[in-house]
Amino acid sequence: MDANTILKDRTALITGASGGLGAAIAKELASQGCRLFLTGRDRQRLAATGDAVRIIAPSVHEHVADLANAASLEAMVGHALETIGPIDILVNCAGIFPVQPLEQCTMEEYDQCLAVNVRAPFYLIRQFAPLMAKRGWGRVVNIGSSSAYSGFRDTAIYCASKHALLGLSRSLFHELKGQGVRVYCLSPGSIQTEMGRHVPGQRFETFLRPDEVARYLAFIITFDAELISEEVRLNRVIVQ
Ligand SMILES: NC(=O)c1ccc[n+]([C@@H]2O[C@H](COP(=O)([O-])OP(=O)(O)OC[C@H]3O[C@@H](n4cnc5c(N)ncnc54)[C@H](OP(=O)(O)O)[C@@H]3O)[C@@H](O)[C@H]2O)c1
Repeated sequence: MDANTILKDRTALITGASGGLGAAIAKELASQGCRLFLTGRDRQRLAATGDAVRIIAPSVHEHVADLANAASLEAMVGHALETIGPIDILVNCAGIFPVQPLEQCTMEEYDQCLAVNVRAPFYLIRQFAPLMAKRGWGRVVNIGSSSAYSGFRDTAIYCASKHALLGLSRSLFHELKGQGVRVYCLSPGSIQTEMGRHVPGQRFETFLRPDEVARYLAFIITFDAELISEEVRLNRVIVQ
């Protein structure tokens, strides 16, 4: 199939669409002709993404959900299947980034971070990937981080969650590729989003632009023959 049209009319579910990177991914996939189901927790920010995307492509649904809440997650899956049908492209982009030294970390923050950054992606893949496999085509993109590969101080919980997400992705990459479902872990360095503002000790202006990361994501998922990316690390030119 032609790489320029391969994403046309595909259904895509994007978590974290109310955030900086999720909104950029939504715009990029809309521009390539995808039909979108966008989720986020903040109603207003999610609606703002929906409005921006609708200018590009009309088929956009928004759904407010708390990914740390099992019932909310389950309801979201049901609503997605009802409104746009089986999902072709799942982008696990939502994430939280607790920054504090070990002695200030609480078990509640640990549970919340692992729930959003790892449990929810696993649950969504568990729900949607078998349906993708049945149809013989699917893409799952997990948004990792440089913290999936290195340990940085004051972010032990986040680093643990992103290492776990990378491990999950690596395993499912092998398990699902033979069924037409390609699993990617896309790991950017710091990005110019709200979360990026909380990265300690680095210059925001040197960070990656969310639209560039989104463009890269769309590019790697269009390969449909022998070539398959497993995991991709996106770094900054200037690290300061
Ligand atoms: N920014 C960086 O420097 C950077 C670097 C590497 C990787 N990443 C990864 O990139 C992804 C996107 O982050 P971003 O930079 O776009 O940050 P962001 O602007 O802060 O967006 C984070 C998103 O996650 C959503 N979220 C958080 N907790 C949630 C929950 N309980 N239920 C549902 N949604 C929840 C937020 O929803 P609401 O806003 O609606 O609450 C928001 O849409 C994350 O996985 C992050 O770890 C970011």
